[in-house]
Amino acid sequence: MIYLDHNATTPLDPRVREAMLPWLGPHYGNPSSLHRLGRAARDAVEQARAQVAALVGVSPEWVVFTSGGTEANNAALAVAGPRETVAVSAIEHASVLETARRRAQRGGACCTLPVTPSGRVDLEAAAARLHDERPALVSVMWANNETGVLQPVAEVAALARELGAWMHTDAVQAAGKVALDFSAAGVHMMSLSAHKLYGPKGVGALILDPAVPFQPLLHGGGHEKGRRAGTENVPGIVGFGVAAELARHELEARARRLEALRARLEARLRSVPGVALVGADAPRVPNTCMLRVPGIDGETLVLELDQEGIAVASGSACHSGSTRASHVLTAMGIPPEQARGALRVSLGKDNSEDDIEAFVAALEARLAGLARFAGLADW
Ligand SMILES: Cc1ncc(COP(=O)(O)O)c(C=O)c1O
Repeated sequence: MIYLDHNATTPLDPRVREAMLPWLGPHYGNPSSLHRLGRAARDAVEQARAQVAALVGVSPEWVVFTSGGTEANNAALAVAGPRETVAVSAIEHASVLETARRRAQRGGACCTLPVTPSGRVDLEAAAARLHDERPALVSVMWANNETGVLQPVAEVAALARELGAWMHTDAVQAAGKVALDFSAAGVHMMSLSAHKLYGPKGVGALILDPAVPFQPLLHGGGHEKGRRAGTENVPGIVGFGVAAELARHELEARARRLEALRARLEARLRSVPGVALVGADAPRVPNTCMLRVPGIDGETLVLELDQEGIAVASGSACHSGSTRASHVLTAMGIPPEQARGALRVSLGKDNSEDDIEAFVAALEARLAGLARFAGLADW
């Protein structure tokens, strides 16, 4: 299988798996236990906390381990009171958008910040809306999962601070791909997820400025300094820590390689008839390439490429299986019938130039077949 769907998830780095194994075997203690097995687990969790903190430049106490990016996003939005307004960008992940929508159904309010045709939050429109709506909390992602487009988080954070609002950023798709500096961005909260950076699934973190009046989603024992109850997922947290450390050390080398691979991919795609790149004129994380082929259904194309042994996604992975047009592309002004032809290629650190060539060849072959079937000319 040629795997080009790293924004959906990444394979576990063998070095991460090695580090996790003892915590799935002989080191099974509960970090809350006083005996030596417990103390060893506590030390491992605290080491991982320091490793994750270093990735984003905060002190370890600011890291709250969660079950992943979804929980971190839900917990962040709960900082706004039930009747208060939250402002979210139109292109957020479902774990932010759905949470905001449900808050609105329960008596809170939600306002949406629009994006420009290149997929970046429209700062002028955002400033006007924030001044009108006076939200208690603003949430804008660092990088979009479908287009890879980097968002003006620091600029929105400055606006939010001016208005006395809390600022959250979902950095799940940015971590390990671009450098993240929590303080320089001026945010109060940041979500991370281990499985997007070659760590295990089911573990993530909310980075939390202690000034935030945080209310835990989960109540119980006083784990995570009262911010998230539940016995810690020790193997997962250890894996997350090592993955974060590797990402920090290898960030530049990975990014340089991915930039070059993507440049090659996009140069090749520009000569495939009917293919248009999406968001390519905006600053992006180095691994993501979104394209669309008008008149072709993206999900059909995903299944066709799967038959060739190639894994890609159509729009957001979370929407796979449904034929709805991507909310990200429609927010960028792409008509729904054209947005349905979207395909996301997300490269990873172990992809090669051969993978790119195989993908482009398979795409050309399958597109020609689909176009003949659909009666489209000029392929
Ligand atoms: C931008 C973004 N936020 C949040 C999530 C959810 O993270 P998790 O899978 O860890 O719950 C994802 C996963 O696809 C994502 O892409």
